[in-house]
Amino acid sequence: MSTTSYSNAEIAPLASLDDWEDDLLKRYPDPDSIAQAKAKEEFRNYDQPGRDTVTEFYRLNHKYQTYDFVMEKEREFLKFDKKEMPVWDAFQFLNTLVDDSDPDIELDQLQHLLQTSEAIRADGHPDWFVLTGLLHDMGKVLCLFGEPQWAVVGDTFPVGCKHSDRIVYPEFFEANPDSKDERYNTQYGVYEPNCGLRNVHMSWGHDEYLYQMVKDYLPESALYMIRYHSFYAQHREQAYNHLMDAHDHEYFKWVKLFNPYDLYSKAPTPPNWKELRPYYEDLAAKYLPTTLKF
Ligand SMILES: [Fe+2]
Ligand SMILES: [Fe+2]
Repeated sequence: MSTTSYSNAEIAPLASLDDWEDDLLKRYPDPDSIAQAKAKEEFRNYDQPGRDTVTEFYRLNHKYQTYDFVMEKEREFLKFDKKEMPVWDAFQFLNTLVDDSDPDIELDQLQHLLQTSEAIRADGHPDWFVLTGLLHDMGKVLCLFGEPQWAVVGDTFPVGCKHSDRIVYPEFFEANPDSKDERYNTQYGVYEPNCGLRNVHMSWGHDEYLYQMVKDYLPESALYMIRYHSFYAQHREQAYNHLMDAHDHEYFKWVKLFNPYDLYSKAPTPPNWKELRPYYEDLAAKYLPTTLKF
């Protein structure tokens, strides 16, 4: 268990875990929908309920995600000794994640995963890419183990070196002890120039957790998409080229290709899980073991 305890307000600043992704849509609006004037106005309207909770969420995320915090979470969760489940039970388990927001307007977790994977499938991509869409947020089960929201979702960033001012709300890193620690507050910190992201520790969340869970089963392109899909400071802002090597740059093409499916695949009609289930059962059986360890 964690050595630090947080208040309830610190564990769950957001009414819904999805509020972070809704906020991403305001930061990175769909190029197709900003063509419409109405949508444009909506995206620019930052004065809405929910905005303050997202700000508070980032304040906590940037304050508490230190190098030591990440080490502690890696030790705690990368043993995968919490739970072992058949793949389909894992989806049902993820779907028990409900929060305070209005259930009528919120998609459940499985619907977001299916909309993402179905959009990838509709574009004719390889089957492992479709499976990646289906799995990519499975790591959010961390919330069901009692983890604070800011240690499950949120933009990810390297720890152990200077925080880029291209990370959302960079001013909140003032409260992060690493920003005052000379081991961690230089451009390279504990890393070497262009050492490759495989040698870099990222802030802790659902991306790294799922990557470590499935790293033996999927092609490397899929693993990059899973591991770095919340690393907006790089795949949208190119703020960490100095830590990347040629291999990372090659594989970030996949991370960039994946991102619009994650952000812009929300369809008004929910996918029909009953109809789709046989296809996805075969697909999961092709790549994944019968059970997954959490
Ligand atoms: Fe995600
Ligand atoms: Fe997602």
